[in-house]
Amino acid sequence: MLDTVKVTNAEFAADVLEGLGLPQKTLPCRWLYDERGSQLFEEITDLPEYYPTRTETKILEGCRREVAAAAGSGATLVEYGSGASVKTRLLLDTFDALHCYVPIDVSASFLEETADQLRRDYPSLSIKSIVGDFLSPISVPSNARGAGRTVGFFPGSTIGNLSNAEISDFFQRARQDLGDGASFVLGADLKKDVARLIPAYDDAAGVTAAFNLNILKRINRELEGSFTLDQFAHEARWNEDASRVEMHLVSQMDQTVTVADTKIGFAEGETIHTENSRKFAIDELVQLAEAQGWTLSQSWMDDEKLFSVVMLDAA
Ligand code: SAH
Ligand code: AVI
Repeated sequence: MLDTVKVTNAEFAADVLEGLGLPQKTLPCRWLYDERGSQLFEEITDLPEYYPTRTETKILEGCRREVAAAAGSGATLVEYGSGASVKTRLLLDTFDALHCYVPIDVSASFLEETADQLRRDYPSLSIKSIVGDFLSPISVPSNARGAGRTVGFFPGSTIGNLSNAEISDFFQRARQDLGDGASFVLGADLKKDVARLIPAYDDAAGVTAAFNLNILKRINRELEGSFTLDQFAHEARWNEDASRVEMHLVSQMDQTVTVADTKIGFAEGETIHTENSRKFAIDELVQLAEAQGWTLSQSWMDDEKLFSVVMLDAA
């Protein structure tokens, strides 16, 4: 069963109209994930250029027994931005007598289909999915908790899609929601050569471009938008000061677009900034977590130091 539906079209309309009214037009990246957006993200994870998913999977394969041992028997696993829950299966297969799995995601139908598939594959596992925005308060249902520890899981470096202020708020809320005695397992993409980063966000097959442009399709469909997709081009940009890859949609001409009866002008070359993907030094991330009541327990990296998985404990 899906829990509270907190993501509405009115919120989408408000975010889009506000964001497209800013001097640097911006859309919050959570709106990239409708059903099609979630499918396209899954295609991205298989691309040769997109190293994060396969690297994190390998790290998790190596450390999952240590994570499961720290979680102990009868734990509750709460996942933020669970998507297709593919890597999660490594933990579901390893934890001892998991009490409940709580996947949280904004992509409602994709979450429901994923939860249904997991129920077929893990018939004895209790799954309580929550459709919601993890940047807003989310309460883990009390019957999802058993006698064991609560373990937060935030893989994929989705944390890199948040601003510093959002990361701090998120850590603070997760500390409260998960409670005393909790652990938190977090995946973070690390700083590296820009020559490796840009193709990961601008692949040869054009899947990331389709993922980015899909947000305009969504606006057309859900908010009576009039975007012509081939009049915008995907761009992945490295922002050195902020240590992040940015996704933009670049207007190919001067044009006016209508969204929910509001006219929005674009100059040729003007962009809509749709996503940040920050690349971390582990220390930076740990400092942000420690400031909100977490302490570093263990961390793991791949041999090339591309990606890191850290385990935090509630201080
Ligand atoms: N955890 C998966 C998926 C990562 S993609 C993995 O590691 O491969 C990011 C996921 O977070 C998507 O499923 C998206 O729908 C979800 N998401 C993005 N922003 C969100 C938000 N603010 N609240 C809840 N879910 C969000
Ligand atoms: C989900 N998130 C961590 C992905 C990332 O790498 O920032 C989303 C993505 N955007 C483009 N490609 C993948």
